[in-house]
Amino acid sequence: MTSVAESTAPEVPALNDLPARVLTRQELRELVSAIADDPAAWQPHVAYDDEHRHYVCLHRDANVDVWVLCWTPSNDTGWHDHDISSGAVAVAHGEVIEHNLVIGSAALEIKVPAGQSFHFGPDHIHRMTGAAEGSVSIHAYSPPLWRMGQYAISTTGVLRRTSVSYADELRPVDEPFPDDQERLRDAVLGS
Ligand SMILES: [Fe+2]
Repeated sequence: MTSVAESTAPEVPALNDLPARVLTRQELRELVSAIADDPAAWQPHVAYDDEHRHYVCLHRDANVDVWVLCWTPSNDTGWHDHDISSGAVAVAHGEVIEHNLVIGSAALEIKVPAGQSFHFGPDHIHRMTGAAEGSVSIHAYSPPLWRMGQYAISTTGVLRRTSVSYADELRPVDEPFPDDQERLRDAVLGS
């Protein structure tokens, strides 16, 4: 479930004086870390939902968008990319897990506890899940998110990307692709 921070939301000092250009990955990391270190900025937006992840847009302009994401261990983004945006994540409370897709073996899981952060470029594909009840992370993207790629892995292991809006809730796409079996059968018969 998402919403945009209302005008009555507290002022966030770290959002003042943002550069009027696309931010670098290091600048994004410094921005999310500063907001994570300022509980007054994110605590009013915290809520949890096992079924639909709760997230709030703190800020959006032509160059950057900033979000508060709240996590339970049931929350899972599924595999996704951020199209042309770079991003950074700082964990403000609790712990989240960043999963990195590895072809041919189990995903690489990186636990990110409160106080830690990471950044990534547009080439990055990942999946994020909550690790601890009541976790909170701050995310920033530049250029601001517009389209994203949501990935599904079929029962036959075929990876597919679907372009989704930044306003859509990312979640695992586990449905099998019904045409996969047919496609594989045709390939075998044709070989
Ligand atoms: Fe992401």
